[in-house]
Amino acid sequence: ATPLRLGIAGLGTVGGALARLVEAKRDALEKRAQRRIEIVAVSARDRMRERGFSTEGMAWHDDPVSLASHAEIDAYVELVGGSEGAALESVKAALNRGIPVITANKALLAHHGVQLAKLAAKKNSTILFEAAVAGGIPVIKTMREALAGNEVARVYGILNGTCNYILTRMEKEGLTFAECLAEAQRLGYAEADPTFDVGGFDAAHKLAILTSLAFGCEIDLDSIFIEGISNVAIEDIEAAAELGYRIKLLAVAQRTDTGIEQRVHPTMIPTKSALAQVDGVTNAVAIDSDLLGSILLAGPGAGGNATASAVLSDVMDLAIGSVTPTLGVAPANLTPYKRARMRAHEGGYYIRLS
Ligand code: HSE
Repeated sequence: ATPLRLGIAGLGTVGGALARLVEAKRDALEKRAQRRIEIVAVSARDRMRERGFSTEGMAWHDDPVSLASHAEIDAYVELVGGSEGAALESVKAALNRGIPVITANKALLAHHGVQLAKLAAKKNSTILFEAAVAGGIPVIKTMREALAGNEVARVYGILNGTCNYILTRMEKEGLTFAECLAEAQRLGYAEADPTFDVGGFDAAHKLAILTSLAFGCEIDLDSIFIEGISNVAIEDIEAAAELGYRIKLLAVAQRTDTGIEQRVHPTMIPTKSALAQVDGVTNAVAIDSDLLGSILLAGPGAGGNATASAVLSDVMDLAIGSVTPTLGVAPANLTPYKRARMRAHEGGYYIRLS
């Protein structure tokens, strides 16, 4: 078989881990895929940086758009980040050429997913994004494949590792918010701009994608009520504990009589529930559906290897040739932002767990 030739844009936490993993696991991966997997071209901001792998033999591009246009790649892996600029333009350039895109970029999909899914369909290409939601947890493939025969009523969970790490350490070790955030940054969990984490926006980006898959509808970020964890004080955590609750930043999308409601906010959940036991950088996604009742997926939600593991799963799908359809593009029946916010307030930041 012909080799699968990859172009990788972005060699930071995730891109660097991916390149190291492709090198270290080459034999096993190629045996499984029955073809060679080669990184033939890369781009990153700083060519000289020491990254723990050799870029020798890989074509270097200073600009992701030029990498996406590189003649010799069969797939473009976008790990640049950011919803606009080089990330958006390079993904469009690859799709326009008809080559598949693999991305971990939840912000990009949350803002432009509808447009990109339509472009991919028009060009007979595809966009794969297992790594965009909940790091290493295989939630996209679960939704798309394992739950294909189900009707989803609700999808909810802990979608931001940084926030969960901060809340856990504040609670268990009495550290301050700022100390925990600095540690999350040091460990490579936080976004380049950590406001995206603590402000709830990163969780909202991921929720927007899950909603689209769960309910087969267009992504609509603007209808999500978003409140982050910056105002959660240690006193709140202690008061919740006395009442038998823990505070988690939950992202929830559920069917209601007035459409699909989406919200992200600090939520009190019963200490005994499975979700409340999810600590540290771990993410968890619960899905309620007609045939399965409730399932809960939990695992590492951020960090180089965990996220690269998800990217690698998409690489392997392409290498093997098993690729499923992309985001939902049906018009959405979504509860507007105002009502989602009202419901969050009415519900006292509480959700009923089954
Ligand atoms: N900053 C994100 C998090 C990375 O903390 O969950 C994974 O998307």
